[in-house]
Parts: sequence; C-alpha cells; structure tokens
Amino acid sequence: MSTQKCQQETVSFRHDVWKKQPMIFLTEPDIKYQDSFLVGLREFHQEGRMLQYDFQIISEDFERFLYHLKTQQDRTKLPPYIVPQSHFWLIDDNEFIGILSLRRELNDTFIRIGGHIGYQVRPSKCRRGYGKELLRRGLQKAKELGFTRVLLTCDEDNIASKKIIESNGGQFENMIRVEGSPIKKLRYWIDLGDQPPVEKGH
Ligand SMILES: CC(C)(COP(=O)(O)OP(=O)(O)OC[C@H]1O[C@@H](n2cnc3c(N)ncnc32)[C@H](O)[C@@H]1OP(=O)(O)O)[C@@H](O)C(=O)NCCC(=O)NCCS
Repeated sequence: MSTQKCQQETVSFRHDVWKKQPMIFLTEPDIKYQDSFLVGLREFHQEGRMLQYDFQIISEDFERFLYHLKTQQDRTKLPPYIVPQSHFWLIDDNEFIGILSLRRELNDTFIRIGGHIGYQVRPSKCRRGYGKELLRRGLQKAKELGFTRVLLTCDEDNIASKKIIESNGGQFENMIRVEGSPIKKLRYWIDLGDQPPVEKGH
C-alpha cells in the first residue's frame, strides 16, 4: 500500500481503546455490520482506497459480497496464482472500524511485498489507537490459526504502519526496492510465541 492517507487532522482526544475492550472484537465479515461497513466503504472510496469493491454492487447484494470474501480463503476455489486470505473486521460498539486480511500462504510477490497481514482503518476512525489494536488482535488470530511467525511489510514513509508493526513486536529484517516505485518497502517478522493473549470474552 502506498503512503497511508488517513485523515491528517489531529483528533483532540485520544480514544482510550483499551478501557473499552469489552465492546471491541475481531470478527469474520457479518451481515450484522452491513450498514456500518457501507458507511466505512464510502469513506475509503473518498480517499481512493478499496476501489476494488464496487459500492453499488455490494450494497445491492451484501450476502453475495460476504460469500465472495469467504471464498477468498478457500484454496480450492481460487486459481493457483491467487493467494488465499481470510478477512476479519474490527468492530467497536457495533460499528465497523477496519479490516485485517490474513494470507494463509505467500507467493513470490507477497514474500517480498505485502507479507501475511494487511490492515486498514476507516478514515473517520484513524489516530485513535485502532490500528495498533487491529494488528494486536490479528496476530492473536494468526496464532490461533497455527502461524508461528508472520511477515509484515510497509512503505518506508508510512509512519503510522511502521509504528503499529514495531509496537506489536516487529523485528526489522530489511528494506527492499520495489520495481517502478521510488518508495522502498520495510520488511518485519513477528514471532507469535511472544504475543500476549487477548482477554477472554472479547
Ligand atoms: C496505517 C493505519 C492502519 C493507521 O491506523 P490508525 O488507527 O490511525 O493507527 P493508530 O491510531 O493505532 O496509530 C499508530 C501510531 O501511528 C501514528 N499515526 C497515525 N496516523 C498517522 C499519520 N497520518 N501520520 C503520522 N503518524 C500517524 C499515531 O499517532 C500512533 O503513534 P504513537 O504510537 O506515537 O501513538 C491507517 O492510517 C490506514 O488504514 N492507512 C491506509 C492503509 C495502510 O497504510 N495500511 C498498512 C499497510 S502496511
């Protein structure tokens, strides 16, 4: 992902994500959050992100969209050149906050750029600590699914993502050039043996 474009204005208070933990959880995409997801999708589109998701088509048949997301994790339903991935949504107070995608396997591209985990926080919810929390919970999910370590990458100028990865235990491996781009990629590994468990019931 190129330079992150979340809202740049400073939020006057820091949302204390951790005090609200009982309301926050990671879930598989669910029709319960359709309205909130669609509002979030509009926000992403206004920033030129997630354009692969057509708002009209998705809003007309949300269940079909959910089915599409589910098939993306099933190797048997994908062509060989597509990497299977599972999508999870961060929900707070019944509201869609962001997306985390966990790639079950890596191809030559993802081993260099992209890694096992990608994440995005919807623009109106940025700079409140959700990004760190999203990855923290995503790492826990990866551990539950049997991963022992995961690769994360981000653009060298993506300060927020760099902070999110490093605060979640990212061990810097190297910085690589990306063909056709002046921006280099930072590559990190996170050993999941070191992840503290997410509290029960959340
Ligand atoms: C990167 C992204 C997930 C950050 O989400 P977020 O909810 O704003 O992250 P957090 O609130 O947890 O902030 C993490 C840190 O980054 C800082 N930060 C957040 N946005 C920032 C910005 N635009 N510029 C500078 N610093 C920023 C925060 O202040 C915080 O710093 P701290 O550790 O010193 O307190 C979000 O901006 C996004 O979705 N970007 C587009 C997609 C993307 O880049 N994904 C990562 C793929 S590698």
